Amino acid sequence: MSAIIEARHLTKRFGIFTANNDINLSVQEGEVRAIIGENGAGKTTLMNMLYGILQPTEGELLFKGQPVQFHSPKDAIEAGIGMVHQHFKLSPSLTVYENIVLGIETNKKLKIGNKEINLPLIDNKRERKVVEDLIQKYNFSLNPDDKIRDLSIGARQRVEILKMLYRQVKVLILDEPTAVLIPQEVEELIAKIHDLKRMGQTVIIITHKLNEVKACADTISVMRRGQLIDTIVNDDAATAEKLAEMMVGRPVLLRVSKSGKPVGDKPVLEVRHLSAKNAEGREVVRDVSFTIHENEILGVAGIEGNGQTELMYLLTGLMKPTAGSVKLRSKEILNEWPDELRRDGVGVVPEDRYKQGLCLSLPVSNNLISGYHRRSRFCHAGLMDYKEIQKNKDEMVKLYDIRISADDPPVSALSGGNAQKVIIARELSNGPEVLLASQPTRGVDIGATEFIHRSILALRDQGKAVFLISSELSEVKSLADRIIVIHDGRIVGEFDAESVSFNELGLYMSGAKEMKQLAGEGGNA
Ligand SMILES: Nc1ncnc2c1ncn2[C@@H]1O[C@H](COP(=O)(O)OP(=O)(O)O)[C@@H](O)[C@H]1O
Ligand SMILES: [Mg+2]
Repeated sequence: MSAIIEARHLTKRFGIFTANNDINLSVQEGEVRAIIGENGAGKTTLMNMLYGILQPTEGELLFKGQPVQFHSPKDAIEAGIGMVHQHFKLSPSLTVYENIVLGIETNKKLKIGNKEINLPLIDNKRERKVVEDLIQKYNFSLNPDDKIRDLSIGARQRVEILKMLYRQVKVLILDEPTAVLIPQEVEELIAKIHDLKRMGQTVIIITHKLNEVKACADTISVMRRGQLIDTIVNDDAATAEKLAEMMVGRPVLLRVSKSGKPVGDKPVLEVRHLSAKNAEGREVVRDVSFTIHENEILGVAGIEGNGQTELMYLLTGLMKPTAGSVKLRSKEILNEWPDELRRDGVGVVPEDRYKQGLCLSLPVSNNLISGYHRRSRFCHAGLMDYKEIQKNKDEMVKLYDIRISADDPPVSALSGGNAQKVIIARELSNGPEVLLASQPTRGVDIGATEFIHRSILALRDQGKAVFLISSELSEVKSLADRIIVIHDGRIVGEFDAESVSFNELGLYMSGAKEMKQLAGEGGNA
């Protein structure tokens, strides 16, 4: 075997920050290579250099043994390297085949004698046929004439992949391709990757999900803090535990261990017939009812954009409902101001930690009390007690393992995981009756994720109620006691978290299945 792509001493700096440090990477023709690493490890930066989006600060790149310099993705594609990003770049109003050929359309030709002249007209018929053949060849379930806007996320991703195959790339780079997919689509994609390999394609897949790596990779390269730690063969010795340890640099507990404490029977939060319309007048939350009890974590599973964000806005006073009621220990709290909610014992971990959860320019100490700053511990007769605020910071930093480089830096100087720990520390330390948490570990590294999971479970075991929205299905399943599935603004299923399978959840998430009678309606309270 010979290397199709080789990186030698590749370094990328952004200002004084080194995102990729002296990377040596060699990918063999026809292999499936996984690149794994925690958030911020430098995976996308490395791939962006292979794809011509970024130029290396130092080092060189070889394609089939020849030194190459890519000034743009166009150069990379011409050489034979294609990349599909996490966020798709398709035109929703165009069809599948139009999107695939976009940018390299085939012109109609005119034959004069034995000369061919390109006419300024696009040969739609021929293009469509080529795309149709390609769909057949790779056995992708797609219709060339469907409009992108009518397609599922999984299908849109297949279009992006075909777009690259149409350009006859030899190496296909997929950056976090499964982050947006439901379990069935993940399985399909992994099967496709196996097909592509069989047909001779080289695939580089970036992911942080270790079970997916195990299912599709021949070899695995691990990155940590801008460095390529090692490349190993995906065999039985390459266990998920070993890979996680290589990624983090220390042993990590991959499985969350629950206490086994039974769910209580006293309801804490009772949501009834909650509905809301968005700014365009579309009903985005539709007659949602559920109850959360003491010692219970209720998880919400759903594809993003099915009303989860709005549901959280409603519960946290950021959006007006059109109908419904929300009771915390029988007190109506719907439409309360965030300040009142906090006094009533509602802890909030918002979806967008930077926009809604933190004030970036303020120091960690201030962020650790914001929203709770009027509590008697920090404020006497309208005056802030700065000594106490600093003391609280020192306690929280220790208790919640917040890694800071200076004594009290602004939150903007913290990594995503540590910024999230500031929110978790603030909300949990103020003793909430119910915690409303949205995407609590999004973009957070494995080490901090482990810590946040344990903190949430500990809160539950103290008799509190937790409402957990997450697009990481495995997170919902491993933390929650009960799971409700949301689709198109409605709750379409309710399950015991332990016994329900990922596939079953996927069927409800995609809208393919729906329960008729839901226990949550009206009152299992
Ligand atoms: N254009 C840029 N300017 C400055 N810093 C960047 C830029 N792109 C990435 N980084 C930084 O480089 C590091 C690696 O980022 P990235 O390659 O996206 O990591 P990964 O894909 O492994 O999560 C991060 O700390 C990120 O903030
Ligand atoms: Mg990335």
